[in-house]
Amino acid sequence: MTMEIPSDLIRFLRKANRVAVLTGAGVSQESGLRTFRDPQTGLWAQYKPTDLASPEAFARDPKLVWDWYAWRREALKGVRPNAGHYALVEMEKRVPEFTLITQNVDNLHRFAGSRNVLELHGNIQRVRCSECRTFTEDWGDDTEAVPHCNVCGGLLRPDVVWSGENLPRLELEAAVQAARKCDVFFSVGTSGVVQPAASLAFAAHNKGAVVVEVNAESTPLTPKADFFLQGKSGELLPELVAEVWK
Ligand code: OAD
Repeated sequence: MTMEIPSDLIRFLRKANRVAVLTGAGVSQESGLRTFRDPQTGLWAQYKPTDLASPEAFARDPKLVWDWYAWRREALKGVRPNAGHYALVEMEKRVPEFTLITQNVDNLHRFAGSRNVLELHGNIQRVRCSECRTFTEDWGDDTEAVPHCNVCGGLLRPDVVWSGENLPRLELEAAVQAARKCDVFFSVGTSGVVQPAASLAFAAHNKGAVVVEVNAESTPLTPKADFFLQGKSGELLPELVAEVWK
C-alpha cells in the first residue's frame, strides 16, 4: 500500500532540527514478532502479564518466568529488522538531533544500526542479578534451573521492566527531555496505553511539537495527532524518508 505523505509534514520534517520517535511492538510486527494487544495473536491474548512479567510472578515461580523469557530470546534468533527499522536509521542520519525512544525489548533498532536509542522497557538480550543488579553475559546453558549470579548468588533475571516496576531513570529522563524539546514527535506502532511512555507524545504536543502517528489502527493519541499515517510502519516509514530527503 502506498500513501501520499502530506506536503505540510514534508515541509516540517525538512526544517526540523530535533526529532524524537517513540516505537512500540508494531514496528517489529513485520519482522514476524507478535505484538502484545492484538486480540488474536498478541502475547497478552495468550499469557497474563501478572503470571509472567511481574516481580510477584518471579518470586512465585522463577523457573516459569525465566523459561518464558528464554523462549522469547530463542524466538528472536532468526529475526531481522524490517524496512521500518532501517528507515529510522536513515532518518537519524538526516536530522541534526534525533532520539529514538523504544518500548521494545527485542534489540532490533540497535541491530538495524540506530545509534541514539533509549530503551524504556529494557532489553531481553541482557541478563542481570535480581538482587545486586550485576549484569552478566555468561549464564551457562543449564535448562534445569534458573542460573545464579557469580557475585552474590542471587537469581538471574532478564533486564526488562516488569509490571509495577520503575522504568530506568536515566532513559526516562532523557526521553522526557527529547519529547519536550523536539520539533517533530513520531509515535510508531504503539497502542499508547502503557504509561509513562504513552504520555511522551502528549508532552511533545503540549510543548508545540508537530505530532505524527504511524499505526495500523487508531489509538487514544489519534485525535491529538497532527498527522495520522494509517498503515504498516515497514511501508510508510521508508516512503516518508524517501519523500522528505530525496
Ligand atoms: P501493543 O501490542 O499494545 O500495540 C501494538 C500497536 O502496533 C497497535 O496499536 C497496532 O495497531 C500497531 N501495529 C501492529 N502492526 C503494525 C504495523 N505493521 N505497523 C504499524 N503499526 C502496527 O504494543 P506496545 O504499544 O508496544 O511492556 O505495548 C506497550 C507495552 O505493553 C510493551 O512495551 C510491553 C507491554 O506490556 C512491557 O513489557 C513493560
